[in-house]
Amino acid sequence: MKLESEDLYEFLLSRRSIREFRDTPVSEAVLRRMLHAACYAPSAHNRQPWRFVIVEWGETRAEFARAMSARYRSDLSRDDNLTQQLEERIRARETRLIEAPALIVLCMTTKDMNTYPDDKRTQAERSMTIQSVALAGMQLLLAVHAEGLGACWMGAPLFAQQEVRDSLQLEPAWEPQAMFLIGEPLAPGEDRGRRSLEEVVLWR
Ligand SMILES: Cc1cc2nc3c(=O)[nH]c(=O)nc-3n(C[C@H](O)[C@H](O)[C@H](O)COP(=O)(O)O)c2cc1C
Repeated sequence: MKLESEDLYEFLLSRRSIREFRDTPVSEAVLRRMLHAACYAPSAHNRQPWRFVIVEWGETRAEFARAMSARYRSDLSRDDNLTQQLEERIRARETRLIEAPALIVLCMTTKDMNTYPDDKRTQAERSMTIQSVALAGMQLLLAVHAEGLGACWMGAPLFAQQEVRDSLQLEPAWEPQAMFLIGEPLAPGEDRGRRSLEEVVLWR
């Protein structure tokens, strides 16, 4: 397929994080097509360290959401007193997870990483593994956009890795990195703006 570059740029620049969805479910066929595209991300040594967990609607999703809330509540209570307002924020987030048409947890497996005798190379290898998984996440966001759906990358599983593993019965080598809520957008996403190129690019 030949894409006009203008169309591709328009596609890239029109993706937005979407946080509220219509009730319409996302079919298994569409989920599979998007995940297949995500798996075409490049990865260090082509190890493909990404792993995906589709958390289905129902009791598993509810248990997952409750476990995430428990961690969130405990973290927030260490920062501050748990006010009524914070409790409402926790409950609202839990409801958002339970109700999202589709929810995918993105994990990283460290099983296939190269091993080195020194910390410096071990750390670099780990960073490359994280980068590879993030690219699969980005590719998933683009596939969602290509389907005319919306999604938001959410970092919460990184802060609740054990709770995610326990509630979804994942093996210890799967490190939860992020999750994506996916569905038909309730409204167009807001343009949050970008820093200017002058601010982020150096020419040397
Ligand atoms: C690593 C990462 C973590 C993020 N975590 C969250 C999150 O926990 N909650 C949330 O609402 N959005 C989260 N986002 C989405 C960002 O807020 C969003 O990408 C940013 O504001 C730019 O908006 P845009 O995606 O619509 O261009 C995350 C994005 C990334 C890349």
